[in-house]
Amino acid sequence: MKLDLTGKTALVTGGSRGIGRAIVERLLQAGASVAFCGRDGEQVERAVLELSGRFAGETLKIRGRAADVRSEVSVRELFEWMDLEMGGPDILVNNAGVGVFKDVAALGPEEWNLVIETNLGGVYRCSHHAVPRMRARGGGWIVNIGSLAGRNAFAGGAAYNASKFGLVGMSEAMMLDHRHEGIRVACILPGSVNTGFGRGEAAEWKMAPEDVAEAVAAVLAMPERTLVSLVEMRLSRPPKK
Ligand SMILES: NC(=O)c1ccc[n+]([C@@H]2O[C@H](COP(=O)([O-])OP(=O)(O)OC[C@H]3O[C@@H](n4cnc5c(N)ncnc54)[C@H](OP(=O)(O)O)[C@@H]3O)[C@@H](O)[C@H]2O)c1
Repeated sequence: MKLDLTGKTALVTGGSRGIGRAIVERLLQAGASVAFCGRDGEQVERAVLELSGRFAGETLKIRGRAADVRSEVSVRELFEWMDLEMGGPDILVNNAGVGVFKDVAALGPEEWNLVIETNLGGVYRCSHHAVPRMRARGGGWIVNIGSLAGRNAFAGGAAYNASKFGLVGMSEAMMLDHRHEGIRVACILPGSVNTGFGRGEAAEWKMAPEDVAEAVAAVLAMPERTLVSLVEMRLSRPPKK
C-alpha cells in the first residue's frame, strides 16, 4: 500500500531508538515532517543529526527534543515547541514505553509508577494535548504502540501487563470518542521485537523494529472510510518451546 504523507506533521514519543526510531524513519520516507522525543537529549540530538543526513535535500522537517512523557509540564512544552517548529501534529504515535519485570512483592512503588506513568499516563498526557490540535486541523491519527502483553499476562508482568492491558481499553475508548470528529485511533500490539527493550536479549528470531513501523504505515494508508483499530503482530515462526 502506498503511503503519501506529504504536507503532514507527526510526533513520535520515544523516537530516539528502537521501534520509535524505525517509525520516525518510515514516516519521513512517506514525506511527513516528524518531531520526536526521548528523555535523553543527547541521544535525541544524535538521532536528529543522523536522520537529517539521510533525508538531506528533502523539504520535510526533522526535529527532536528531550521530553519526559511522565511529566505534564514536559509534555505541554513539547506540544508548544512543536506548534512553533512545524504545527500539528496530524499524526501522534504514542510509542514511549518501559518495562520492569518483577512480582508485586519485589516491585517498588517507584518502579510501578515508572511503568504506569510512562506506558499509560504518557499516552493520556500526549493525547490530551494532541486531540484539540487535531480537531482544529479537521482530523488526525493517534497510533498507540501496545504489546501482546496487553492481551496475555505472564509471570513477572504485573506492572507491564497492567499498563498494556490498560492501553488496549484506553485505545478502544479513545477510538469511540473521536472517530466522529475525523480522529482515528489505532493500537498496535507487537510480539517480541529486536530492540534493547527491558530484559529482552537481542535475537534474530524476533521481529524487526521496521516491521512495526510497516504496520503503522499500513494502518495510516487505509482509505478514509476505514479504521483499522487493533493490530496483533505475531512471529510467523516463533522458536518451539
Ligand atoms: N521490544 C519489544 O519486544 C516490544 C514488544 C511489544 C511492544 N513494545 C513496545 O514498543 C514501545 C517501544 O519499545 P522499544 O522496544 O523500541 O524500546 P526501547 O528500545 O527501550 O526504546 C524506548 C524509547 O522510549 C523512550 N522513552 C522511555 N521512557 C520515556 C519517557 N518517560 N518519556 C519519553 N521517552 C521515553 C526511550 O528514550 P529515553 O530512554 O531516552 O527516554 C526510547 O526512545 C514500548 O511502548 C514497548 O512497550 C516493545
